[in-house]
Amino acid sequence: MAPQDPTSPPERPEDRVIVVFGATGDLAKRKLYPGFFHLMLAGLMPEDFRIIGSGRHSPGSDDEFRDKVKEALQEFGRKELDDEHWETFSQRLSFVVSSDEDGDDLAEAVRQAEDEMSAGGQRLVYLSVPPQAMQPMVGMLGKTGIAENAALVVEKPFGTDVDTAKELNDALHDVLDEEQIFRIDHFLGKEAAQNILAFRFANGLFEPIWNRDHIAYVQIDVPEELTIEGRAGFYESTGAFRDMIVTHLLQLLGFVALEPPVRLEADALHAERAKLFEAVRPLDPEQVVFGQYEGYRDEEDVDDESKVETFVALEVHVDTWRWTGVPFYLRTGKAMAATGRKVTIGFREPPLRMFPLHDDGEGSAAEQRPNEIVFDLSEDPKIAIDLLAKVPGPVLELGRASLNLDIEQAFAGADGLEAYERLLHDVMQGDHTLFTRSEEIERLWEVCQPVLEAPPEAQPYAQGTWGPDAALELPGPRGWRLPESDA
Ligand code: BG6
Repeated sequence: MAPQDPTSPPERPEDRVIVVFGATGDLAKRKLYPGFFHLMLAGLMPEDFRIIGSGRHSPGSDDEFRDKVKEALQEFGRKELDDEHWETFSQRLSFVVSSDEDGDDLAEAVRQAEDEMSAGGQRLVYLSVPPQAMQPMVGMLGKTGIAENAALVVEKPFGTDVDTAKELNDALHDVLDEEQIFRIDHFLGKEAAQNILAFRFANGLFEPIWNRDHIAYVQIDVPEELTIEGRAGFYESTGAFRDMIVTHLLQLLGFVALEPPVRLEADALHAERAKLFEAVRPLDPEQVVFGQYEGYRDEEDVDDESKVETFVALEVHVDTWRWTGVPFYLRTGKAMAATGRKVTIGFREPPLRMFPLHDDGEGSAAEQRPNEIVFDLSEDPKIAIDLLAKVPGPVLELGRASLNLDIEQAFAGADGLEAYERLLHDVMQGDHTLFTRSEEIERLWEVCQPVLEAPPEAQPYAQGTWGPDAALELPGPRGWRLPESDA
């Protein structure tokens, strides 16, 4: 299929069979079934499709599987589940047991479904399995022929270090062309993340100041209030560094720090991202703080002496002409004081301070923070620019004020797609723009390798806080943008 122009209006994809591995897992329940269902309501699913769930253990009959999907849609769907649409959706659902050793029944079921619907042979295969299960599954897809004509979506983390990432990429390339592979990182599908690109490259106002001459620091901050919430199996073998930093936060850094691509399309964007990641300086373990929330070791299925980190804060540098000397601070953790996803760009002070600062009675916060642009990447995306302005009154003194853009309000009536929905639709359209290529992934593992080899000890932090003290001090006296009054 010809790659799509990411700026063209969305289209209905061609008919296809969809196979979901990890069909009874958390991701499928929370994101994939609700995602496909909402795409169907939005007219963005194929006219005809089948979803075959698969995994080692059967959830029971097809009807029992459908009941489970229905529960998932009721709990996690964004739209009310009405009988008529559920009927249409559920008729297309079935479950077939498979494993890395035996995929024959599944392959047969795929072919049968394709015959029934006279689909042109396009397939979507979603591999939502743990990293260690990934490679054998890819082998099975090749052996049984399921990989033929398939667009394969691979969930993160892609491997567990640079060597396993390379092995996984080799295994994928043995069976599929790079064009068939979609390494998904749902942060890139978030509306607000794409707005960073729009903001930078569509407005003449900002790009001229988007460099070391004007920017003093960048903070990419993704604290989460939730704990590991029953995901001990995944978390004990993955940890916050692999779960969030190697993937989501460094990918966001990619959007913030990217050079302007020659065109807004997949190849041009990938070329720039590869160049940028090449310039990211390998992490210095001395500039990395790991934390573990108190009580983590008491969670079910967590080792009593687990050293796994549930919190990471770090400083990273990008050695290019544009960014030399600008620290990027990244922070994420579970069981923290607030949930947020903020990218903050801090600007240099003017060369001369001419105005007295207004004493706001709060230790003059205005004095401590320079101009900042803050991208709030939550479900209700916002962009704020913090400035100093004259406080009304007889004296010329300054206070801190904000220009705020609320995207939902600005484009009232526009019905956005949730990140997974957007990306699933892109896969069906063959559009790689918001997916990552093998060389980008491998480079990010290389950048992270020094920390994997010499991980700092995870320091305890109380639940509901901002992490260990060492992390609070990391960005220097100015501190982190969060917490703030609207956090
Ligand atoms: C997932 C991580 O990829 O992203 C989770 O595995 C994390 O640990 C989640 O909570 C955050 O995603 P979102 O879209 O809720 O910000």
